[in-house]
Amino acid sequence: MPGAASWGSVPRLAFGGDYNPDQWDRDVWREDVRLMQRAGVNLVSLGIFSWSWIEPDQDRFDFSGMDEVIALLHEGGVSVDLATPSASPPPWFSEEYPDAQFVDHLGRSLGHGSRQGFCPSSPDYRRRAGVVADRLARRYGEHPAVVMWHVGNEIGGYNTHCHCPTSAEAFRSWLRARHGDLDGLNRAWGTAFWSQRYSAWSQVRIPGATPGRTNPAQQLDYYRFASDEVLACYRTERDILHLHSPGRPVTTNFMAGSFKWADYCAWGPEVDLVTNDHYLVAADPEAHTGLAFSADLSRGIAAGRPWLLMEHSTSAVQWQPRNTAKRPGEMLRNSLAHIARGSDGACFFQWRQSDSGVEKWHSAMVPQGGESTRIWQEVVRLGAVLRRIGEVAGSTVTGEVAMLWDYENYWALEMGGRPSVDLEYATEAEAWHRAVWQQGVVCDVIPSDVSADVLSRYRLVLLPSHYLATPGTVRALTAYVHDGGHLLVGPFSGLVDRDDRLHPGPHPGALRDLLGLTVDEFLPLREGAALTLDNGLTGRVWAEAVHPDGTDGAVVDARFADGPAAGGPALLRHSAGAGLARYAATRFEDSSLRALIAGALDEAGVGSTAPGAGDGVEVVRRTAEDGRSWLFVLNHTDDTVEVACGGVELLSNTTITGRLTVGAGDVAVVRESGSPDAS
Ligand code: GLA
Repeated sequence: MPGAASWGSVPRLAFGGDYNPDQWDRDVWREDVRLMQRAGVNLVSLGIFSWSWIEPDQDRFDFSGMDEVIALLHEGGVSVDLATPSASPPPWFSEEYPDAQFVDHLGRSLGHGSRQGFCPSSPDYRRRAGVVADRLARRYGEHPAVVMWHVGNEIGGYNTHCHCPTSAEAFRSWLRARHGDLDGLNRAWGTAFWSQRYSAWSQVRIPGATPGRTNPAQQLDYYRFASDEVLACYRTERDILHLHSPGRPVTTNFMAGSFKWADYCAWGPEVDLVTNDHYLVAADPEAHTGLAFSADLSRGIAAGRPWLLMEHSTSAVQWQPRNTAKRPGEMLRNSLAHIARGSDGACFFQWRQSDSGVEKWHSAMVPQGGESTRIWQEVVRLGAVLRRIGEVAGSTVTGEVAMLWDYENYWALEMGGRPSVDLEYATEAEAWHRAVWQQGVVCDVIPSDVSADVLSRYRLVLLPSHYLATPGTVRALTAYVHDGGHLLVGPFSGLVDRDDRLHPGPHPGALRDLLGLTVDEFLPLREGAALTLDNGLTGRVWAEAVHPDGTDGAVVDARFADGPAAGGPALLRHSAGAGLARYAATRFEDSSLRALIAGALDEAGVGSTAPGAGDGVEVVRRTAEDGRSWLFVLNHTDDTVEVACGGVELLSNTTITGRLTVGAGDVAVVRESGSPDAS
């Protein structure tokens, strides 16, 4: 998989954004290129929603505008990440292929007038998307400006779960391949419950509206199928692009951390370069920790290699309830936070603010007010900063702590019919990750389908609420702990297999031996209720009646002081082989979680990236194969801070000897002493 650094002979960070020239008259295009040069833009994602521009009617193609724009960009030295426009079929497509429209879970066919209004399983959709990809690839596949391909946009974002007859038929074929015959399906789905035994394939449906709860194993299979179907749309186009544009990386932009329905862990190996979109959650004053989670997950999906931030925003978005603007300096900090965590660039939605349509109140690199605006000034500064730190392109980031992440767990834990709706997969994972972030430590977020070999690189592995446990993951974790690793497991873990069937024996079936304990009962709390442990930590949402298993079992570190499990164990540790497996039987309040994680880090011998890191001061190291390393220091606080390090600070070109001072909200990138080339 080529990293973004392989786009040219000189390592560089990508800088640019989505470029939609079809929204503008020709005279704006030249001005756009002039401004791109002014800001140092070197990459644009071109024509993501341009289907009706280049194919205004079925099989009538007009590439004159696209030809002109690509030529202008090329002349201006701006490389092109050329998009296939398959995210938004034109109105003629809906008129011509009414059966290809998206159908929701109530059976309603949703019309066009937005985007992604198609059924991902539709052969007509895939064929027409393939035709336009083929025309683009043949025309521009060898164009010197085109350095990368961008398939569709945030694939599956609105339309992963289609319920039309075509999808139902495709689901049945997928099930046949997975389960073989109806006996296999009946076994896997546990259809003896509520008399759901199937006697013919024609009876098998996509889980839609039902009077009561739907079979959970059926739901899980549908989610897997749906993720595979949207991935298949990508693969169809990717293969066409590879054929006519060999050597150019093909990607599609993920939404790691914010989108639930695409199994990006499975998608990662399908793209030549992992690219990600990230938008701050405006309601969260600590949204930069969510950013770190999304970036760390992108890197995990990319198996540790460089990835690329394809979209973020220069300031406010327009789709949250309250769209707060970024404060001065925040965009630079956000951009460098992604780059610190392995992105080989910072790109945006979008280049020029639209003057019509749904997203005209979304910020852009060129705001409506043009060059006099604060945002434009900050865009120009960011371009200059990225040029100064371009040497980091291609280097990588490695944490000493890993958190396992898994989309099937995300789906399974939150399907309903569980002890409490208040225990949520992603919320829990992000809370644990945030607690690590606050200690100034980098946490790799990696797919849970992992080998013991990969785990052995880490001093501490985190497993928050891992409800669905596969034999492979359990084997890897067991070997990791026995070889001396430290593991911390959250509540409601290790309970079911991939068909949502309880693992045999007392809970937690799959992790009982490793944890040395048994859970007799889950005891969730009433909404808003809290509990206390005898060591002073406080929890919410959840308690369990748990006990150590025999004399070789876990030992109790702390007990519930009150709540439904009062007097019983709340925190346990089990020495297994040379390592340690710890279990937390509640969902901790933020400050208590922080204390718990701090203790686990300490015990595992993990310190912060540099003295001064933590408490709002983000410090991350990128390392190159030749031994050079760079320390990214991002001060999210309102005070001046100091971090201990030495080397050359690249933004100011000053030598740092032992102590770096970073102003409130400011950033620094230090090529560390000892690095080859360090002065
Ligand atoms: C997503 C999409 C873009 C745009 C932005 C707005 O990331 O990919 O097309 O809609 O959101 O924030």
